[in-house]
Amino acid sequence: MSKLVTLNEVLKDAQEKKYAVGAFNANNMEIVQAIIEAAEEEKAPVILQASQGAIKYAGLDFITSMVKTAAKKATVPVVLHLDHGTSFEQCMACIKSGFSSVMFDGSKLSLEDNIAMTKKVVEVAHAMGVSVEGEIGKIGGTEDDIHVDEREALMTNPEEAKRLAEETGIDALAIAIGTAHGVYKFEPKLDYDRLVAVRALSDTPIVLHGSSGVPSESVEKAIGLGITKVNIDTNLREAFVNRMREVMAEKPKEIDPRKILGPAREMMKEVVKEKIRIFGSNGKA
Ligand code: G3H
Ligand code: 13P
Ligand code: ZN
Repeated sequence: MSKLVTLNEVLKDAQEKKYAVGAFNANNMEIVQAIIEAAEEEKAPVILQASQGAIKYAGLDFITSMVKTAAKKATVPVVLHLDHGTSFEQCMACIKSGFSSVMFDGSKLSLEDNIAMTKKVVEVAHAMGVSVEGEIGKIGGTEDDIHVDEREALMTNPEEAKRLAEETGIDALAIAIGTAHGVYKFEPKLDYDRLVAVRALSDTPIVLHGSSGVPSESVEKAIGLGITKVNIDTNLREAFVNRMREVMAEKPKEIDPRKILGPAREMMKEVVKEKIRIFGSNGKA
C-alpha cells in the first residue's frame, strides 16, 4: 500500500461492517511513527490528521513527507487528512502538498455560508481525487466556559446536517453530540438520539470529534449507531508527555533526546493500539 488513500476507501467498509477508523493527530516524526506502527501491528486502516497548528509547528512539507514515507512502507491503508481547516486556501495548500483528504470546518459560519464554502472545497478536492469532511454544529473545547444548556444549543440540528451533506457532497460529516476537544472536567454524556436522527436522514459517514476521555462503552455505542471515524488527540498527547516526564524523573541526568522520546513513542503506540481495538478496526486491513 504505497500510496495514500481517501476517506471513502476506508470509511465505506467501516460503515458497512459497523466499526470505526481511528483518526489520530500527528505533529512530529515520533507521533507519525507511533500511529503507523500501531496500525501495522493491529492490521488496521488508519487516518493520520494534521491540524493547522500541527502544520504551523512542523511545516506542511515535513508533515506530508513524513506521512508519505511512513505510508510507503506500510501494508495498511493510510489517509493523510487536514483536521479543522478553516479556509479554502489552507485546504488547497494541503491538496497541493499531497494530502489525500481535507476537512473544511465551517461550523462557525452561518449555515448558508458553511454550505457554500464547503461546496467550493468539495468541487476542487473531488476533481483532484481528494476527500472532504465537513462540520455542522459546534464541537468546541472543554475549556470553553459554557453551561450544559448552552452547549446543547450548539449541538447539530439533524435537518441542517442533511442539508450540508446533500448540498455539498462531502465524504464525511462531523457532528456535535456532546463531546468537546481536550481534557474533560466531567464525564461527557453523548446525545445518542441526535446521532440516530442524523443517521436516519443521511448516509454520509459520521465523525466523532473530541473522543479522548469519552468512556469506551460510549464510543462503542456511538459506533454501533453509525459513527465511522473517531478523532483522538488529547489521549495521545497525555501518553507521550506523561512517559517523557517519567523517564526524565527516573533519569534526571539523561541528555540524549532519543532516550526520552523513544519510550514516549512506545507508550503512544500502545494507546493507539488500544483505541484501534475499541473502534473494532483491528484486523480490517
Ligand atoms: O481538534 C483539535 C485537535 O486536537 C488539534 O489541536 O489545534 O492544538 O493542534 P491543535
Ligand atoms: P481530542 O483531543 O479531544 O481527542 O479531540 C481530537 C479531535 O477532535 C481532533 O479533531
Ligand atoms: Zn476535532
